[in-house]
Amino acid sequence: MAGGLSSVFRWRNVIAAGLVAVTVVAASAQTLPAQPWPTRPITIVVPFAAGGPTDILARVLGEHIRADFGQPVLVENVTGAGGSIGVGRVTSAVPDGYTISAGNFSTHAANGAVYPLKYDLQRDLDPLARLPSNPMVVVTRKDFPAADLRELMAWLKAHPGRATAGTAGAGSGSHIGGVLLSELAGGLLQFVPYRGTAPALQDLVAGQIDLMVDQAANSLPQIRQGGIRALAVAATTRLAAAPDIPTAAEAGLPGLQMETWNGMWVPHGTPAAIVEKLNHAIVKALDDPAVRARLAPLGLEGPPPGESSPEALRALQDSEIAKWWPIIRAAHVTAE
Ligand code: MLT
Repeated sequence: MAGGLSSVFRWRNVIAAGLVAVTVVAASAQTLPAQPWPTRPITIVVPFAAGGPTDILARVLGEHIRADFGQPVLVENVTGAGGSIGVGRVTSAVPDGYTISAGNFSTHAANGAVYPLKYDLQRDLDPLARLPSNPMVVVTRKDFPAADLRELMAWLKAHPGRATAGTAGAGSGSHIGGVLLSELAGGLLQFVPYRGTAPALQDLVAGQIDLMVDQAANSLPQIRQGGIRALAVAATTRLAAAPDIPTAAEAGLPGLQMETWNGMWVPHGTPAAIVEKLNHAIVKALDDPAVRARLAPLGLEGPPPGESSPEALRALQDSEIAKWWPIIRAAHVTAE
């Protein structure tokens, strides 16, 4: 009996000590200050050449993130293989919020159907925020013998395989847009891959290639300067930034509809608090009238209110993968 009582006391002591320990741990968890973040530079990996639409978005928003957090934001252009190399770099980075993947419809959706990727676009990256979208425009070198989209289609049919179309690499938005145009014209374009649409556009202005299905943000400055000719915007409505360009339907090709949506991601496993901080900084930047004034003349608009959350980008990415992978596979778009 005495032995029994003493063991009861012993257990009471153990339980009491345990309770004290739990209370101390809980108290210290409450009073510990949150880890400061960021404490060093953040890198945004752009998977295309400098000066193109993805690069412009990253630099404009990166400037805001820098001002918000008081840390440098570096933009690193890691190009090649339709942007899949740059995205791969981020999937293998430490998930601490210091490495961000900027990308779009092609790099974060289409490429999964084009390349044998060593990463999974939906599993290995966590969405940060949806960014403005950009309609595609059909543009030609300024002396191409077609004054409008109908004349271009007639020329392509009359000269099979002769026209060259610049792209940002296999699977890029400019390539998929070109494939759509090519299919509507009977499969007659020769594609010329670059490391981004910025260098492709330079060659279009120089007359080295014939045409592009390009993001408005890339082409509009040269359209305005007369360096290239715009034949149609691949959207149901005209661009507010360039109302003179007819829609593809108005120009005789209603089947040509495509826009490039954009976003930012971090490596999977990045702490939720950091994702939230970055999302707030990006949404704040997109609400800034100065940022809108910089992006709107390039046809970069949206996202619609409430659609810039990580969840909205995840839903968009998932639905675009479901929509485009079968189309891309049926069109036999490959990395070669
Ligand atoms: C770029 O920045 O070069 C483009 O976003 C590439 C593309 O998707 O066509």
